[in-house]
Amino acid sequence: MQQRPLRIALAGANGFIGRAHLQHILDEKDAELAALIDTDPSIASTATQHGVPQFPDLEVFLNAYKAGDVAADAIILATPTHTHIAMANLLLDSKLSVLIEKPLASTGKEGRQFLESSREYTNGVYMVGHHRRHNCYVRAIKDVLDKGELGRVVAVNGVWAQRKSDRYFEIPWHQQAGSGGVLLTNAIHEMDMLQYWLGEIVEVHALEGPKERPYPVDSTVQVTMKFASGTIGSFLFTE
Ligand SMILES: NC(=O)c1ccc[n+]([C@@H]2O[C@H](COP(=O)([O-])OP(=O)(O)OC[C@H]3O[C@@H](n4cnc5c(N)ncnc54)[C@H](O)[C@@H]3O)[C@@H](O)[C@H]2O)c1
Repeated sequence: MQQRPLRIALAGANGFIGRAHLQHILDEKDAELAALIDTDPSIASTATQHGVPQFPDLEVFLNAYKAGDVAADAIILATPTHTHIAMANLLLDSKLSVLIEKPLASTGKEGRQFLESSREYTNGVYMVGHHRRHNCYVRAIKDVLDKGELGRVVAVNGVWAQRKSDRYFEIPWHQQAGSGGVLLTNAIHEMDMLQYWLGEIVEVHALEGPKERPYPVDSTVQVTMKFASGTIGSFLFTE
């Protein structure tokens, strides 16, 4: 029997990564756009263009979904980082499969609490958008490491450095501690890759460098870490 396409609703559809998700849904033959959700009213024209309903926030969407007014199998949360956990909690009893953009939460405590409270949730699938784990080069490195072709890795060292444009910081949440910042936005990818390759990180120490812009977010951070295997590592992140 031919399976029908997965019907996907997209929250944060008008944002940088939301627009990328939208394009992927439209390009994917096994996916179908179900609804667009964004606090920005200008999303209306995109919804009209693609013939799907549009909602100003997740609660309004969920009311329509639960009333049977909109059909969906899955939802992508591509909204600012500080909104992720509250939105993920709202979705717990919805039966929708959920892809949450990285990072899952603003703090480790918040993330762990969510994992605990969602443990009983079995209706759908929750996934965090650590897409690099699905990159062929990242997977090839894991394969080399797993086969022991490099021997035992005793230490790793890396740098992520990029001068972000001033326009980037015009988006308010990019200035906001607990949502923007180089750790939550960028380092999260490298730390996830390191854990994918080398196993769980069990100890972390960090030093924050000077802020080059007048915003509360971290912009330069040096991290040292220890993996469960005993491997040690250090990484410099600066934007
Ligand atoms: N996986 C990746 O490589 C990658 C890349 C970029 C961003 N991200 C993540 O995606 C998320 C969004 O980042 P972005 O750069 O696209 O942000 P953005 O500011 O460009 O877009 C966010 C969108 O969400 C909308 N929005 C804000 N609050 C909302 C709410 N409560 N309900 C519905 N819509 C709301 C905004 O109007 C906007 O259209 C962040 O968590 C970020 O870390 C991941």
